[in-house]
Amino acid sequence: MTVGRAGRHLRAASVAVVGAMASVAVMAASSPITSTAKSASPVATGTPAVSAVPSAASASASASASASTSTSTSVAPRDLPPSAALRAPLGDKPGLAPLTVTVLEPHLARDGRMPEVRYVGFEAGAVLTRVLGAGWRAPGQELEFRALDGFVSRIPVERFAQHRAWLVTARADGRAFEVDNHLQGERQVPLGPYYLVWDNRASKALQAEGGALWPYQVTTVRVGPSSMRALLPGDLAATYAGAADLARTHCLSCHRVRGYGGDKMPLDLDVVVKGYDAATWRRWLLEPAAVRPGTTMPALAEGMPAAERAAIAQRLYDYLRALPPGTPAR
Ligand code: HEC
Repeated sequence: MTVGRAGRHLRAASVAVVGAMASVAVMAASSPITSTAKSASPVATGTPAVSAVPSAASASASASASASTSTSTSVAPRDLPPSAALRAPLGDKPGLAPLTVTVLEPHLARDGRMPEVRYVGFEAGAVLTRVLGAGWRAPGQELEFRALDGFVSRIPVERFAQHRAWLVTARADGRAFEVDNHLQGERQVPLGPYYLVWDNRASKALQAEGGALWPYQVTTVRVGPSSMRALLPGDLAATYAGAADLARTHCLSCHRVRGYGGDKMPLDLDVVVKGYDAATWRRWLLEPAAVRPGTTMPALAEGMPAAERAAIAQRLYDYLRALPPGTPAR
């Protein structure tokens, strides 16, 4: 990573802080995560996904315990401490216990099948509480994970009450902590210092989502108000809340909408979409490598059925073209 790259990171982070406004009602009503999680059918798994972890019930109990915390605060990005520091006691709090967890690795998906990989790390909620304080679980907020390569994942805190997640730091089998990300045409990509992984073995919905919300090389985390208000200016919320959420999940880790998003490929999608007709747009999103061989742009949600992928591409197209011209001040 170059110094210039880091500078761009910081600028984008401060833009995000200024532009973010909470829109709790919109998020709760529209999140496909919420709706698909309920209909997810568990798949049979031979062994439990984790060898020692607090139950999901205790995670949601602590979520409601801290739910009275204000939702309007926005916290600066915090560095994730090295894993040795997480294992050590902090004040009167005991150190975090490392866990061995098993996930279906979406970055290694081939023809819709994902191999199981075992990682060593920590329960994500425990790390976040240690780094951000217990208030991070207050509903309506969004966590922002930033990576060395400019990739940004914005994830509603509610998802951490619905699914178990871990911040992992190594493979359990001692092999190099890296992955071949064939979706982005990248080989032997280092995953450290932290890689956010989800307990996807029991959730078809998480499997279908692929690796969009599995940021690796994570160095900092921030909690703040939801970005949905910025993504839905004027009166767009009623029609396009679901599409904006899809953009946040699938596109804004690398690109931007109205100045919001990641630095990996900092394009303003609301601007570039104007140069596409619907068919060209769909073809690019569904099969970028066929349009531009060797591209590192990943195909949209490869784990989903073709009709659903095409429908998402169309919804993104309609939403992005409906956005009013102009982006907010950077
Ligand atoms: C992992 C990062 C990543 C994600 C996620 C991603 N893209 Fe891209 N995108 C790229 C890269 C890299 C390029 C440049 C591709 C090239 O030139 O080979 C690109 C290029 C584009 C372009 C072409 C711009 C132009 O006209 O040259 C469009 C349009 C685009 N992306 C839309 C999207 C949309 C919509 C989504 C969400 C469905 C998305 N991208 C998700 C990395 C990403």
